[in-house]
Amino acid sequence: SINVNDPGLITLVNKLQDVFATVGVQNPIDLPQIVVVGSQSSGKSSVLENIVGRDFLPRGTGIVTRRPLVLQLINRPGTTNRTNGANKEEDEMKQSDVGANLDEWGEFLHIPGQKFYDFNKIRDEIVRETDAKTGKNQGISPQPIGLRIYSPNVLTLTLVDLPGLTKVPVGDQPKDIERQIKDMVLKQISKTNSIILAVTAGNTDLANSDGLKLAREVDPEGQRTIGVLTKIDLMDEGTNVVDILAGRVIPLRLGYVPVVNRGQRDIDNRKLISSALEHEKAFFENHSAYRNKHAYCGTPYLARKLNMILMMHIKQTLPDIKSRISSSLQKYSAELATLGDSLLGNSANIILNIITEFCNEYRTVLDGNNQELSSIEL
Ligand code: GDP
Ligand code: NA
Ligand code: MG
Repeated sequence: SINVNDPGLITLVNKLQDVFATVGVQNPIDLPQIVVVGSQSSGKSSVLENIVGRDFLPRGTGIVTRRPLVLQLINRPGTTNRTNGANKEEDEMKQSDVGANLDEWGEFLHIPGQKFYDFNKIRDEIVRETDAKTGKNQGISPQPIGLRIYSPNVLTLTLVDLPGLTKVPVGDQPKDIERQIKDMVLKQISKTNSIILAVTAGNTDLANSDGLKLAREVDPEGQRTIGVLTKIDLMDEGTNVVDILAGRVIPLRLGYVPVVNRGQRDIDNRKLISSALEHEKAFFENHSAYRNKHAYCGTPYLARKLNMILMMHIKQTLPDIKSRISSSLQKYSAELATLGDSLLGNSANIILNIITEFCNEYRTVLDGNNQELSSIEL
């Protein structure tokens, strides 16, 4: 699997949601949101896009991301087996737009009800809506753009793309642009359920990394910060990030992952994510500095790391859900005893049994991933 939406994890979470849905509990597990921080043009949007595995974010040189984008991925089972004519609108789409996958679409919060099946049009709309609120002359706005992507192939999870940290105002940018962007970023990463991807270009000095500095402010212990090193392909001959990876420069508990995203020419040539990932794999496998550790390099490894963090989170959440249910079970049983009706008490008991069975069924998966995560910690 090449993205954070690992099928195993999707199955696990779906089963869990099913268990709770049968008893009327919605979204028992609040998965963390993944937030990117870093300097302007360090590669934040590129990293997010590779994680999702779809092309839909505006990327490029200069300040391209000028409003926060709150991207909610929503898992929704495919409709391919649905009886014909169940949804007229989608049937019409099927006839008119040959290439579109009807199981995956985007919807903007500012255009309720309009489904975007073409991911290029999603990108166009992000650009249009950014310009609409900030002007074309590189202005910024803290007002987020809300986008939901529905797909059977994603985990229900939130990703946040943010403007890059910058110091000198250009165009219509406010004089205090540095402060304004910092505030936008801090607002997102101070949420304790955020996983921070602190993005730094490999061809810049880690000690000056704006992303790492800001991440430190809200996560001094480095419990939820992953260092992402981009543009490894653009580093000077003879230089590499091996010392950083080994934790000899600025150690991070969750470590660093070096990646190679598409360069500007690849973007202009509309290079596909799939071929970009192949190129990235070959790059690390063939590079003398990374060859012997290529398994710990690249986007798939970053996605796997995120997977493990999500798994840990689920594991940590389950006992709490169990104890909440068990205490309400006690409360209701006591109340019901006075009423002489044990119906509700019984159904709470059933819920608890289902969860216990679920935990047992997935114990190996959850524990296995926990071990794997410990082994990658520095
Ligand atoms: P952001 O401003 O941090 O969101 O950065 P973008 O994702 O928009 O990327 C900025 C520019 O850097 C774009 O032209 C990308 O093509 C380029 N870029 C990003 N990551 C890499 C990388 O790993 N290698 C190369 N060669 N270019 C990259
Ligand atoms: Na940029
Ligand atoms: Mg960006």
